[in-house]
Parts: sequence; C-alpha cells; structure tokens
Amino acid sequence: MKAIQKIRDEHRSISAVLHGLKQLARDAQDPKVKPDFAVFRAMIHYIDEFPEKLHHPTEDNYLFPPIANRVPAAQKLIDSLRAEHKEGAKLIRELERALVLFEDSGAGAARKFVEAVDAYADFHWRHMRKEEQEILPLAEKHFSAKDWDMLNEAFDVNRDPIAGIREKDFSALFTRIVSLAPEPIGLGSRWKKAGA
Ligand SMILES: [Fe+2]
Ligand SMILES: [Fe+2]
Repeated sequence: MKAIQKIRDEHRSISAVLHGLKQLARDAQDPKVKPDFAVFRAMIHYIDEFPEKLHHPTEDNYLFPPIANRVPAAQKLIDSLRAEHKEGAKLIRELERALVLFEDSGAGAARKFVEAVDAYADFHWRHMRKEEQEILPLAEKHFSAKDWDMLNEAFDVNRDPIAGIREKDFSALFTRIVSLAPEPIGLGSRWKKAGA
C-alpha cells in the first residue's frame, strides 16, 4: 500500500512547512527582528501549490471515489473534505494578502499575519487529521486490488513526465525553504535584530 504511505508522507511535508511558517511568523512579531520575506513567500507558495497541483487532485480523483462507491455512509465525510480542498485555496489568498500588508506596512500588520497563519495551519491540520483518522482506514478496509492499482499508479509519477517534473519542482522548493529558513527551522542564518 505504497499510496497510503505516500499520502502520509505528503501530509508530513505540508505539516513541516506549516510548523516552520507558524514559528517564523511568531519570531517576526518582535519589532526588532528583520524578517526575510522570501522565506515566507517560498513557504506560502509551497503550501498553496503542492496541495493544489498534486496532493488534492490525487485524493479527489483516486482516493475518494472508490470509498464513496463502497461505503455510502462515508459520502458526507467525503463531501466535507472536497469542500475543504476548495476552502483551503480561499484561505491561502487571505494569507497572501496578510503577508503583502505585513511587508508593506510593517509591525502594525504583523499581528494580522500571524493570525492568518494560525488560522490556515489549524484548518489544514484538522483536514489532514480527518483524512488520516477517518478516510485512510476506510481505504485500507474497503479498497479492491484494482483500486490500489489505480491509486498507486496515480502516485507513480515517473510514468507521467509532466507530473514528474512538478514533483521534482516541489522537492526543489522544499529544499530551498530549508536552506533559506533561519535555524532552527532551516539551515539559514538567524534573522538580524535591530541594535543587536
Ligand atoms: Fe485533502
Ligand atoms: Fe490530504
């Protein structure tokens, strides 16, 4: 069941970036700190595009439909997860707006930015938890061999040169985040503090 592992791994990557984003948004509340906005932009780009382009379409097209067919009682849960995929895209736009405001207007907008980050992170964690605790066990119980084949194939990005390139792009972006983000989130230098 490599597909289930792959879904869990992707949730871990998204979670890692969300954790980093939350911590750095908090660090940036200190008016003496000079944040590197490129790190915030790269992180938001990742949590926007990776689920949108790769992760959610796989769930929508290959994970949810077989469960809906075999477990009609799960339809409501699946509808709510699909709705959250759309809702997430909207929340990200708010997060981007809050970042632009923070970058343009400084400390006054820092609070609003951290609130938008927390709201998005809580929303996305709730969503991933629901999938891991309620949906993946249903797949493990009810998927047929053919369902697994189709889901595994969807993840076998090497068969699809376009998706393959996309996946490589995202791991390159993840690496960039790690190298840009200041320690202990990543490997970059700590953000400078005015007067320090
Ligand atoms: Fe999802
Ligand atoms: Fe997911």
